[in-house]
Amino acid sequence: MTVEPGKLDAVRHALKQLDAEARSADQLMKAITRLLHEQMLKYNWVGFYMLEPGANPPVLVLGHYQGAMTPHTRIPLNQGICGAAASTGRTVVVDDVSKDSRYLACSLETKSEIVVPVFVREAVVGELDIDSHFPAAFGPEDRELVEHCAQVAGKRMESESVTKH
Ligand code: SME
Repeated sequence: MTVEPGKLDAVRHALKQLDAEARSADQLMKAITRLLHEQMLKYNWVGFYMLEPGANPPVLVLGHYQGAMTPHTRIPLNQGICGAAASTGRTVVVDDVSKDSRYLACSLETKSEIVVPVFVREAVVGELDIDSHFPAAFGPEDRELVEHCAQVAGKRMESESVTKH
């Protein structure tokens, strides 16, 4: 059990409220990083990377984040765990980053990481990246929660892009 009982429901409830209150997808993404960073004790760095529109070759650009400054503000899709998640469109969970040759180090304290793609109309537009100072911090419940957050952000971006057209 990685998450204390009742915590997930409380965070999901808070997320629903933030989604209702946020005036834009950008505001919502910022609020999601704060919520997860504040409420989930093992989530020591929480941030979005978004694909730069029109960039060729594609590149992930650091968006809203909470936690220590990172040297990785732009990540090509063939680099890092971030690049792997964005290029495959699949969640990547790494229990021990020291054993993953793809890993780009942000902080010496990081032990495990989860990266979840964000989709708009079934296309990857970015991802939600979380680092932990604890090994194997992201169990099935964490994965479900982070995937839910990424989905809520994607839906909001999708509805924003519809109203803009
Ligand atoms: N560790 C990531 C780089 C981003 S930092 O974690 C914030 C990676 O391997 O892609």
